[in-house]
Amino acid sequence: MARRKKIYEGKAKILYEGPEPGTLVQYFKDDATAFNAEKKDVIDGKGVLNNRLSEFFMTGLNNIGVPNHFLKRLNMREQLIRSCEIVPLEVIVRNFAAGSMAKRLGMEEGSQLPRPVIEFSYKDDSLGDPLVPEEYIMAFGWASQQDMDDIVAMALRVNDFLAGVMFGVGIKLIDFKIEFGRVWEGDFMRLIVADEISPDSCRLWDIETGRKLDKDVFRQDLGSLSDAYSEVARRLGVLPGNVTTTNTKPTLVN
Ligand code: TMP
Repeated sequence: MARRKKIYEGKAKILYEGPEPGTLVQYFKDDATAFNAEKKDVIDGKGVLNNRLSEFFMTGLNNIGVPNHFLKRLNMREQLIRSCEIVPLEVIVRNFAAGSMAKRLGMEEGSQLPRPVIEFSYKDDSLGDPLVPEEYIMAFGWASQQDMDDIVAMALRVNDFLAGVMFGVGIKLIDFKIEFGRVWEGDFMRLIVADEISPDSCRLWDIETGRKLDKDVFRQDLGSLSDAYSEVARRLGVLPGNVTTTNTKPTLVN
């Protein structure tokens, strides 16, 4: 039997060569890491939940015209995506102070920001993904001014979409991180949302109780991460019936 080609393995996902040129298969692992992989664990079912949740958000974004890499879910842990050249930036959008911003500025976690604030980190694990000003991004050629205008406009649309969807199920979107990739269409390059959108890369708080329903549960040892992610999936209607998240056998979907 031919073995498929692994293109890249990250902390939470693996990319394999796809069935057609220009496609990749994105596999969601159960591995959870924090603090640049200083803290590690395997959370049964996390990959299944994130595969479903990322499909849900990316499909919704497609429906409102925000281009992204998602093509089709293949099975419990895999989705077919468009291959793209990842822009080496983590784009973070914040609605409320939390995490590194709250720490850096001595703000109380959860205080509302005057407007959504966007920041950029340079994607390099060996440096710990340092925060960078736009000046660096231009100077080092990681993205052009036009790219940055498109990235900011798309990131704000993603924010409005995600915040609205989450508000509808009683969850406050505190902040999130997304990544962008370049695809070529004829002579034209365009930017699309790539990577994943899941509770691994967002902060999500229950509106009523303030309960954290995202990776901070793992970072801060607040309880069961799979219970938190399952709760998000259940509220969004993403986990129909009794899908068992621990089944690792690939199941084809139509
Ligand atoms: P931060 O407050 O720790 O800078 O995180 C901001 C947002 O980015 C938060 O929603 C969590 C997310 N995030 C990632 O997706 N990957 C990372 O490596 C880090 C540090 C944060």
